[in-house]
Amino acid sequence: MNVLTAQTTGRATVQTVGRRLGHWVSMLLLLVASLATLLPATGAMASGGVAIPKQNWSFAGMFGTFDNAALKRGAQVAVQSCMTCHSIKYIKFDQLRQFGVSEQEVKTWAESQGRTKKDAMLSGMEAAAAKEAFGVVPPDLSLITKARKGYEDYVFGILTGYASAADVALAQRVMADGKVSGEEAKEVASQLQLDLRHPDKMGEVLKRIVAGENFNRYFPGHFFAMPAPLSDGAVVYSDGTENSRNQLARDVVTFLAWAAEPTQMERKSLGIKVLLYLFVLTIMLYAVKRRIWAKVH
Ligand code: HEC
Repeated sequence: MNVLTAQTTGRATVQTVGRRLGHWVSMLLLLVASLATLLPATGAMASGGVAIPKQNWSFAGMFGTFDNAALKRGAQVAVQSCMTCHSIKYIKFDQLRQFGVSEQEVKTWAESQGRTKKDAMLSGMEAAAAKEAFGVVPPDLSLITKARKGYEDYVFGILTGYASAADVALAQRVMADGKVSGEEAKEVASQLQLDLRHPDKMGEVLKRIVAGENFNRYFPGHFFAMPAPLSDGAVVYSDGTENSRNQLARDVVTFLAWAAEPTQMERKSLGIKVLLYLFVLTIMLYAVKRRIWAKVH
């Protein structure tokens, strides 16, 4: 073998190895990319550095599905509690029949807001009246789970993050001393999710809690215009499910996630089919490519 052929063969081998490696790398990348879509999103931080606890949602991830019973209960909470103040304008009452709300219930719920079943889910309260009462117009809830950092977890956090009786008692006890000591600051920060980096602001927060303002652990800035909408037993379910505040909150958040994208299930099943199709196509094209190039090498 002369030097020239040795060099050429060497180069050819390097090229083949390089090309093979390239194929495997691109196959691997494709696989990683498709697997990444299966992973649920990670937790988020509200502004101000408060971590929003992560919840498990049946509809999360690529294979997630909505539980129709939960959707029905959530719609009931939305109509009987939230819609006193909020509208859900991109959904019509009629659409609630999609997950099994009865014709009669749809009619009753629509009438409770002064609407008919063909109407959009607008609140019975006019925007001007709401502004008068709260100083701000309550935001439309149609897209709220997509519109806030933390998504469904954030909305659940908001509904369950208000100051409890125990929180108010703690605020009263600490304020009775007149000043927040170092020990107390730690206790307050962990119980109320306050930022320990600003102990000087703690006294002010505690004073406002004692005064009965709407404190919420997860709302950026902690104080806002919405009074706690849910408490244990606030809505009585027609299916007899226990109605603790947390259950009501879970169900209404599930409903709001559906409302933000009513065709989510169709999108996901189409997505899975497309991925399967692309996967099979990749393997077939790879086999074809090998056959064609086998003759050339
Ligand atoms: C008594 C009236 C009232 C009721 C009932 C009510 N809300 Fe609100 N909500 C408000 C007002 C007012 C605001 C605006 C608060 C602000 O920005 O200061 C608000 C804001 C919100 C926000 C936005 C928070 C943010 O990050 O800006 C969410 C989410 C929300 N409400 C969800 C709900 C849900 C879910 C229900 C039913 C379980 C509900 N609300 C019931 C009055 C109400």
